[in-house]
Amino acid sequence: MSFKKAIISGITGQDGSYLAELLLSKGYEVYGLQRRASLPNTERIDHLYSNVEHPNFFMMYADLTDADNLNRIIQKVQPNEIYNLGAQSHVGVSFDVPEYTMNVNAMGALHFLEAIRNQNFPVRFYQASSSEMFGKVLATPQNETTPFNPQSPYGLSKVCAFYLTKMYRTGFGVFASNGILFNHESPRRGLNFVTRKITLGLARLKLGLQPLLRLGNLNAVRDWGFSKDYVEAIWRIVQYEKSDDFVVATGETHTVREFVEAVGRFHGFDIVWQGAGLDEKGINRKTNQTIVEVDPIFFRPNEVDLLQGDAHKAKKLLGWQPKTTFSELASIMAESDLALAEQEFKLGKPVVSQRRFAV
Ligand code: NAP
Ligand code: GDD
Repeated sequence: MSFKKAIISGITGQDGSYLAELLLSKGYEVYGLQRRASLPNTERIDHLYSNVEHPNFFMMYADLTDADNLNRIIQKVQPNEIYNLGAQSHVGVSFDVPEYTMNVNAMGALHFLEAIRNQNFPVRFYQASSSEMFGKVLATPQNETTPFNPQSPYGLSKVCAFYLTKMYRTGFGVFASNGILFNHESPRRGLNFVTRKITLGLARLKLGLQPLLRLGNLNAVRDWGFSKDYVEAIWRIVQYEKSDDFVVATGETHTVREFVEAVGRFHGFDIVWQGAGLDEKGINRKTNQTIVEVDPIFFRPNEVDLLQGDAHKAKKLLGWQPKTTFSELASIMAESDLALAEQEFKLGKPVVSQRRFAV
């Protein structure tokens, strides 16, 4: 039987785990790249990690900063497809670790592309590009022709990887595509991204495990979709007849404040906002309890105010469109984190640690 082989970097992350499930369901042999950590970092894929359940799922140690190892792995596996999802993916953190962010996100993509260029078998390469490249946007909505204007080391690193991918396509004939994905979330989202911080925070608050949710810029506007829908787009980009660049988005925008309200509704909170700027508070009208406050520690040196994608090209050429609505997404995440908070309530201690990092 002949099946495709795929390498996924970032398999332990949100998208990597959903993509692995998708590829395994399609009969792929999946090789996940995991970086060494002092504690287990495979929680999102542990359910796949049984060779009995999925005999075609393999894990290999690799760091994106280590070109020789990536090259060796590609030679050994001889994959049909490589999905480069690995990254230092937190925008706020990238201001603290700019050089590391560039090394992983930009050089990591280059390591893959150089390794592919030196192979004599055909490989299709996917680069996880980002709407954060549009930064302080120069046009709205943003599509494949909108100029980039990145505002963070993360955004810059992704612009570099985007152009490297394009350059290896045009210059060296590598099948190398960019998916320019707008924000996408899920119950597997990292705990220090705003949506997950809100869903876990409000679930804990509801059960009396946390007194208050502290957030940064409530006015930021994002185009939020569901990660499970977006990995389907990623796969379609790689199957397309030629390599190209595609925006993947819902086209719908909401503020951070609106995400708080949507999750609040799930929990039966009736949130009203009082005050402005640093003094703004979200109050549960039913109990008069302040449940959200603004903390400047979560502000970024440069902010990206608004992102709104125009995914017409993906819809037309890939037949892709999102399935999950904004309020469904908020409910899926809220429900999942309520279950987690209930577990914490029973145990009398946190199941996951969400320390008050400055992000
Ligand atoms: P994520 O949950 O933060 O996952 C990032 C993955 O990269 C993790 O598996 C992480 O490993 C791995 N990684 C980090 N540094 C590495 C290194 N030095 N070497 C090897 N692996 C490393 O991110 P995500 O939300 O799934 O996003 C997937 C990709 O899409 C990222 O490239 C992100 O920048 C990009 N993207 C995401 C969005 C979004 O809204 N989610 C939008 C556009 C683009 P550990 O588990 O060990 O940390
Ligand atoms: N993380 C965080 N924490 N963000 C907050 C907070 C907070 O307490 N309060 C407000 N925000 C605002 C941020 O300032 C930002 O404007 C917005 O909420 C979204 O922040 P994140 O959820 O951290 O995501 P992001 O938009 O910066 O980056 C994500 O999306 C990119 C695509 O546009 C990441 O997934 C990137 O990897 C991805 O490329």
